[in-house]
Amino acid sequence: MQRVLFVCLGNICRSPTAEAVFRARAEAAGLTVRADSAGTGGWHAGMPPDSRAIEHAALRGYDLARLRAREVTADDFVAFDHILAMDASNMDALDPLRPAWRVGAARPELLMRYAPQTGAAEVPDPYYAGPDGFELVLDLVEAASDGLIAALGAKTAS
Ligand code: 4NP
Repeated sequence: MQRVLFVCLGNICRSPTAEAVFRARAEAAGLTVRADSAGTGGWHAGMPPDSRAIEHAALRGYDLARLRAREVTADDFVAFDHILAMDASNMDALDPLRPAWRVGAARPELLMRYAPQTGAAEVPDPYYAGPDGFELVLDLVEAASDGLIAALGAKTAS
């Protein structure tokens, strides 16, 4: 089973969206996964996703309502095989948390490397954006989830 952690800043907009989208699409593809998400900041810990993220995701059939925010920890680097960050600042924040001395500690990657056809390097923070920002997050995360599922499926098969 592949264990995948999605990381953003607050864990209330982008990474919970990625968690739910990836979980649904992996299941549809027949790939067994454990998906979770976390934030590099802990301000929203224990809270549900942003209501706008819940509403936009629901329009595409993804249920975010039961998710709760948490802060990423050093243990996540061994509890998960893959850590996918939404933007470069998330990557910078993850770097000092990574326990490099622990065997097999995951190396964070940018999620959008799995959807080069989009031309996007990052999933932009929608927190201060309008509805279009949340739709863009869904578009990018759907494309990258499918690329990630293809990559993980190929790895599992080999
Ligand atoms: P996220 O969005 O990182 O996609 O969850 C944000 C949520 C909250 C804040 C920033 C970004 N904030 O500053 O509170």
